[in-house]
Amino acid sequence: MARFEDRVCIITGGASGIGAETARRFVRDGGKVVIGDVDEALGGAVADEIGDAAAFAPIDVADPESCASGVAFAISTYGRLDGLVNSAIRMGPTALVDLSLEDWSKVVDVGLTGTFLMTQAAGRWWIDNDAPGAVVNLSSTGGLQPYNLAGAYSTTKAGVIMLSKQFGLEWARHNIRVNTVCPGHTETPLTAYMRDPAVKQARADVTPLHRVGQPDDIAEGILYLLSDDASYVTSSELVIDGGMSTSLFTHMPGRKWD
Ligand SMILES: NC(=O)c1ccc[n+]([C@@H]2O[C@H](COP(=O)([O-])OP(=O)(O)OC[C@H]3O[C@@H](n4cnc5c(N)ncnc54)[C@H](O)[C@@H]3O)[C@@H](O)[C@H]2O)c1
Repeated sequence: MARFEDRVCIITGGASGIGAETARRFVRDGGKVVIGDVDEALGGAVADEIGDAAAFAPIDVADPESCASGVAFAISTYGRLDGLVNSAIRMGPTALVDLSLEDWSKVVDVGLTGTFLMTQAAGRWWIDNDAPGAVVNLSSTGGLQPYNLAGAYSTTKAGVIMLSKQFGLEWARHNIRVNTVCPGHTETPLTAYMRDPAVKQARADVTPLHRVGQPDDIAEGILYLLSDDASYVTSSELVIDGGMSTSLFTHMPGRKWD
């Protein structure tokens, strides 16, 4: 039996990049997905491409009513809910000294508040229906290290790690697991600058595994945490970055033991 047979998952930000690839792979492993996104054209196209086991729902994660409607849509369409992946993000990069309240709020509202609202909406359904659940929230190596000049991104992503730990702890008694994935640089529309071969090669050169990440690298970690293979894993974070965020000593000049 495929590992997600009869399972249903909502994927926010599922119209693009890591979310879209996770949706494809969840269905390949037997499941059904609701692709929740504000980009209706792209989200609808990804759902069409995947086929009958995928449906698009217009979900704005920054709006609590929209999150609740997304959960209701999953139930009315597929009759149940087993998983949630929070992948939606907006960017507002700039130096903190110049960061406007508007750009701060744009990133925090989608990345952190949106993760809170969507997780809360799914968890309320699981608790009310005495059903188990699994949530995977997308943080970043930028949630572990300060991503200078990226505006509110690092603060948002650090918040996602702690929010997930707290949800995991509060909901363990309901058998609802909440974990975080921290990708490193991954080739998606969000990181379109890596289409420049020189940038991509330079990034591969400073990554211990000698390549930049692909959406399927991240999707595989997300699917593990959604699956029963991770039934004893909660309030944890999985770093998927080719070793980048722990490679400090490879950049240290003048070492004796090269
Ligand atoms: N690509 C990387 O290098 C990288 C690295 C670390 C972490 N991440 C994280 O992984 C996640 C996915 O990144 P990606 O590269 O696939 O991004 P992406 O830009 O390809 O996809 C993000 C999606 O979020 C959607 N979205 C934006 N606002 C929304 C809202 N209010 N409600 C619902 N959906 C909304 C967008 O329409 C888009 O489809 C993000 O949380 C990102 O921070 C990505």
